[in-house]
Amino acid sequence: MNTKELQEALTNLPYPGLSRTLGDLKLLSEVKVSDNNAKIELLTVSDDSYLTVKSAIESAFAPQFTTLDITKKGQVQKDTNYGNSSNPNNRAPYAANVIAVTSGKGGVGKSTVSVNLAIALAQRGYRVGILDADVYGPNVPRLTNTDLEKIRWSDDNKIIPSENYGIKIMSVALTTPTSDTPLVWRSSVAVSALIQFLEDVEWGELDFMVIDMPPGTGDIQLTMAQELPITAGVIVTTPQLVASDDVSRAIRMFQDIHVPMAGLVENMSYFIAPDTGTRYDIFGSGGGERLASRYNIPLLGQIPLNMDIREGSDNGEPPVVLGSDELKSYYREIVENMLKAVKFKI
Ligand SMILES: Nc1ncnc2c1ncn2[C@@H]1O[C@H](COP(=O)(O)OP(=O)(O)O)[C@@H](O)[C@H]1O
Ligand SMILES: [Mg+2]
Repeated sequence: MNTKELQEALTNLPYPGLSRTLGDLKLLSEVKVSDNNAKIELLTVSDDSYLTVKSAIESAFAPQFTTLDITKKGQVQKDTNYGNSSNPNNRAPYAANVIAVTSGKGGVGKSTVSVNLAIALAQRGYRVGILDADVYGPNVPRLTNTDLEKIRWSDDNKIIPSENYGIKIMSVALTTPTSDTPLVWRSSVAVSALIQFLEDVEWGELDFMVIDMPPGTGDIQLTMAQELPITAGVIVTTPQLVASDDVSRAIRMFQDIHVPMAGLVENMSYFIAPDTGTRYDIFGSGGGERLASRYNIPLLGQIPLNMDIREGSDNGEPPVVLGSDELKSYYREIVENMLKAVKFKI
């Protein structure tokens, strides 16, 4: 096999477990054959995917070459000193401010809030990136209508983020080959991939990096707090969960690791009947206010349960861009309050 033949065979080699090939996924950087020795350089985003691809190539081609040398492009020895969260590393020196959005549980609208806050910041003229770090439900690509995009690499082998609605977008979804991949594997891949997303993505200069964190208080939250000086934390909750231990734990974790709290967003807070305009406080009212005052953090805003928010979001049409003036105002007010709550570098 010569260089050209190997290149072609690799381009058509399926990624294990996927219906896509190494060529489709743009995972090949360099392929070279001389004197029956093959050298292959890969553009994988995580160590795990590198190992997966490496062993697939080895089982397909090793018998045909004297040596088969497979490396990963730009694989530099990472600084293994993870520091500690009160004196974090800074893997994102290009971002003036980092906002971490989290919640006690999934399904409360954390991603919807993250995306619309990021866009509302961009609408004010700031340069904004969003990093989808939620390994349990990486849905920022869908919310921003970028879910069909593939990973792209620049000439100097940096990952090019997706862009839509005025913000740059990168998602851990790119590292989770299938949704039924076991969670332990997903989160170990995610931690290494997230560090690469901070360092090896062409974000450019950013005024704000918004991170859609996983819900809860696990490894990824702690890693991010160790790897980044987080300027502000935002907690999203729903009125049913406002008094739950999960929410208190999430708030306390931020406080313990010395992340300044921008405040609390109460999502799906109440319902306004579209026909009569009557407001229904389905889960009671005032929970968000009580929680905010208990922890001495601002209540940034309340967003009603609204069908257009759900429909727009599920169609990749963010309400803060394509919704009614009323819907836009919910997210814009939260941003306004957030900018007052914390001293950002702007
Ligand atoms: N204020 C809201 N009104 C109606 N539906 C909402 C609202 N906020 C979020 N949703 C919907 O709730 C579901 C979960 O939201 P999502 O942002 O994915 O939650 P999380 O990121 O916390 O898991 C999505 O279908 C979303 O469209
Ligand atoms: Mg989500």
